[in-house]
Amino acid sequence: MQMEPRATVLLAPMEGLLDFVLRDILTRVGGIDRCVSEFIRITDQLLPERVFTRIVPELHNGGRTFAGVPVRAQLLGSDPACMAENAARLASLGPAGIDLNFGCPAAVVNRHGGGASMLREPESLFRVVSAVRRAVPAHMPVSAKMRLGYSDDSRALECAQAIADGGAGELVVHARTKAQAYRPPAYWERIADIRAVVNIPVVANGEIWTVEDARRCREVSGCDMLMIGRGAVVNPGLGMAIQADMRGEAHAGVSWPSLLPLVAQFWHIVCTRLDRRSQAGRLKQWLNFLRRRFPEAEAAYQSLKTINDPLLIDEWLAAALHAPAPSSAELLVSA
Ligand SMILES: Cc1cc2nc3c(=O)[nH]c(=O)nc-3n(C[C@H](O)[C@H](O)[C@H](O)COP(=O)(O)O)c2cc1C
Repeated sequence: MQMEPRATVLLAPMEGLLDFVLRDILTRVGGIDRCVSEFIRITDQLLPERVFTRIVPELHNGGRTFAGVPVRAQLLGSDPACMAENAARLASLGPAGIDLNFGCPAAVVNRHGGGASMLREPESLFRVVSAVRRAVPAHMPVSAKMRLGYSDDSRALECAQAIADGGAGELVVHARTKAQAYRPPAYWERIADIRAVVNIPVVANGEIWTVEDARRCREVSGCDMLMIGRGAVVNPGLGMAIQADMRGEAHAGVSWPSLLPLVAQFWHIVCTRLDRRSQAGRLKQWLNFLRRRFPEAEAAYQSLKTINDPLLIDEWLAAALHAPAPSSAELLVSA
């Protein structure tokens, strides 16, 4: 297997938002060293190969996005034997690694003992990680992603140790409990506590929206590996800007004119790969994030928000791609 260079910026798994389409587009922009897929839920069955390749089509491309960025596939489940069996099948399909989800806050997942609910019992983390580690070839990286706890963070260190003792080679910490959901802040200082007790690389995650956030997160957590999620969806240039900053260089960021062709490509892939009824929603979902940063995306969002016919969206995008770029002032007026 090809050795991966040391990663600095990882793209977060985000079920229902950051699927293979957006991974493809965001990794084309650059500044992302590795991705993790959205979770594949394991209950009590050995899933057929087609489920893994549907969620992670990069498995057909050597476990990489078209831009060549490695993708680890994420599994979510609490039964060690079933997780092991599915991990072995997944490993045979050649992902860039297998990641284990110990952070999902969804009620339906937690009711069945998966995701963040496992943080209440560190021993269960150990059992799943060690079973998966034993089931997949030694060269296949196995990593994990955890929150700080379920209702509080009192067992965060025990959880991290259980994951490391189970044989995970890397740990991403989303620095909030399940109870804290997605409410700011993220408690990056707790990641430093975790780093102090485990001997595997730790990746810091949560509330990194800007280069300044990334800088502070690195300082507070002591991590030089960061994972970015919503920040990259809002600002596809964030990974590049963070990497430039780590090298001590400035980065101007990604402009809307350079992003618009990628939005058009995103739309093209959505139209070829997703069913017609969900196509418009997917474009609007991304624009809804992009408009937090780009006034032009706000204008696009306002123009398209009531449109669901893909043909009308095609026309709108074709016109936008060929129109002379309006000034921000004009856009603000028109919005
Ligand atoms: C819509 C959405 C879906 C998510 N899906 C997953 C997932 O499938 N697996 C996972 O480990 N984390 C998932 N997360 C958590 C993110 O990976 C990440 O930990 C969280 O968003 C904090 O990082 P950020 O502030 O950079 O976005 C999800 C988050 C969001 C907002």
